[in-house]
This record gives sequence, structure tokens and C-alpha cells, in this order.
Amino acid sequence: MKFFLDTADLNEIEEAASWGALAGVTTNPSLYARVGGKLSDFHNHIKRICDIVDGPVSAESVAMSRDEIVRDGRELAAIAPNVVVKVPTMVEGLAATHTLAAEGIPVNMTLCFTVPQAILAARAGARYISPFVGRFDDISEDGLGQLENVVAAINNYDFTPNTVNGEQVEIIAASIRSANHVTQAALMGADIATVPFGVLKKMVAHPLTDRGLDAFMKDWEKVQNA
Ligand code: G3P
Repeated sequence: MKFFLDTADLNEIEEAASWGALAGVTTNPSLYARVGGKLSDFHNHIKRICDIVDGPVSAESVAMSRDEIVRDGRELAAIAPNVVVKVPTMVEGLAATHTLAAEGIPVNMTLCFTVPQAILAARAGARYISPFVGRFDDISEDGLGQLENVVAAINNYDFTPNTVNGEQVEIIAASIRSANHVTQAALMGADIATVPFGVLKKMVAHPLTDRGLDAFMKDWEKVQNA
């Protein structure tokens, strides 16, 4: 499993990149708004992220028609070679993905919740598909169960996007809210988990690690004073 950071916060991205396990970044309009992002600076901000991360950086189109999404996608893809255009799973998004993929522009189809949506995204030529886990849980549904279904269904077939020769479509477990979500997504075989920085920190921590470290430190003090 690869880890992407689900954030537009440059400090978080720099810190996570320094840990050595960061394979990419996903952003969305809400995450950009959360860091006080301005429309006029959006492309520059994506460029700054692309300069930090040696891996795919998803930047989302907020257009609603296929022609506008394609126009957005071309502009976003021109920012840096590692930009992936994030496109919502809807009819106009599928049509735009079909066009962008044919031009060799990688697309991450987002706001994906069901197996039929995921298969349509893969057929349209998406390089990545992002089933959302937490938002399903938010409406008292089984987010992990839906992710498991998507992973199983996509792995039943040979979906090779037009954008990257020989590479299969990859599933990004998104809307991840806990380290347990990551555990379960890894056991299912999701290719990638995109996680908020808070979840990434929780993935590192365990109370037994803290307790063991504390005991080692106390014993080392005894050694120094012996
Ligand atoms: O990449 C977008 C997705 O991960 C959103 O997560 O927590 O806003 O549902 P969340």
C-alpha cells in the first residue's frame, strides 16, 4: 500500500515527505479553502505541492460541464508533470475523463461511492479511483464494506488506462478517518490510502511503543547514574 496525504497544507506535506513514506498528495476545494487558499493563487499552490512531492498530486476541477472540466484539466496538467486531474464521478465527469485520458492526462475520479460508479470510472479511462469510506460511515452505512466491494470488483478485470502504458488503474481509499480504516483498506488490497495528517500521525503511534520507550529511557538513566 502507498500513502498519499489528503491535504493542501504545505507544512504538513513537507513534514510527511521528510518521513520517507509519502507517495503523493490529494487535494480538493474544501482542503484548499481550509488553508485560506485564494483562486488567484490556486495554480501556484499546486505547483508548490508538486515541487515538494515526488509523486502524483491530485488537483480538482470545479467545473460542471465536460468541456469546462477538459479545459480545467488541460490547464491543471500543464502546471507540472506529476499533476493528476481530480474529476467528480458524474456523467460530465466521465465524459471529460474519457477525453483527458485519451490525451494522456491522468485522472483521479473522486466522490466515488459504489461499484458501478467505480467500474464506469475505470472504463472511462481513470488512472485512479477514489472510493470514500468515512462519508459512507457518516450516513450510517458501511464505508469499509463498500471499499471492499470496489476493490474486489475492479480486481476482477483488467483496466488499463490510456494514460500510462501497462499500468493498471489504482484504487485510492479516501475519506479515511482512522488508522483502523488504513489497516482494513490494506487488508483488502486497496493500492493507496490518502490520509489526513492527523491520521498519519496516529498511524505511527501506539501506547505500547510509548510505554516501552518510557521504560527504556528510565532504565538508561539508571545506567548513566550507575
Ligand atoms: O480526498 C478527499 C477525501 O479524502 C475527503 O475526505 O474526510 O472530507 O470525507 P473527508
